[in-house]
Amino acid sequence: MEDIANVLKQLTHGVYVVAVAEDGQTNAFTAAWVMQVSFSPVLLAISINPEHYSYQLLKKGKVCSVNVLSQQQMSMAAHFGQSGIKDKMSLGTWAAALTGAPVLQESLAYFDCKVSHEVSAGDHQLVICEVLEARQLNVGVAMSYNDTGTMDNSAELY
Ligand SMILES: Cc1cc2nc3c(=O)[nH]c(=O)nc-3n(C[C@H](O)[C@H](O)[C@H](O)COP(=O)(O)O)c2cc1C
Repeated sequence: MEDIANVLKQLTHGVYVVAVAEDGQTNAFTAAWVMQVSFSPVLLAISINPEHYSYQLLKKGKVCSVNVLSQQQMSMAAHFGQSGIKDKMSLGTWAAALTGAPVLQESLAYFDCKVSHEVSAGDHQLVICEVLEARQLNVGVAMSYNDTGTMDNSAELY
């Protein structure tokens, strides 16, 4: 499995903060497994571990924003990659998108999404989201997952 895990590092991914909202509660988590999967309608697939707190809110609230991190935002990737921390949303400036999902104003760009459907995928859930609105907010170079090194401790998950 170690061999496969090493070769998987050749796949390229960005790094995003996916933010969710449900009944006045908000949360956000760092995600690398995000990709466009349809042109019309525009759909994004987010692969999420169903044990994440964000998943509970996503499942009930059915909205999220996908916020693109820049290379300069490593500390944000690390912060939102942690679970169970107090006042997680106190980092960053947040504004509600049309769907009600929080948008990270410091991100390069965001996609405001409503959940379309879900597909089970091994130990993750693929949440397929329709993009209702998207905006570029800042200028910079997007972060690559490889830049985050061992931040997600993924070596232990295979
Ligand atoms: C760089 C990086 C990429 C990550 N990518 C994903 C991902 O694509 N899907 C996922 O479910 N978790 C991913 N994680 C893990 C979650 O961000 C992490 O478990 C987080 O603590 C979940 O937060 P929550 O429990 O508050 O929802 C990633 C973490 C890091 C640091």
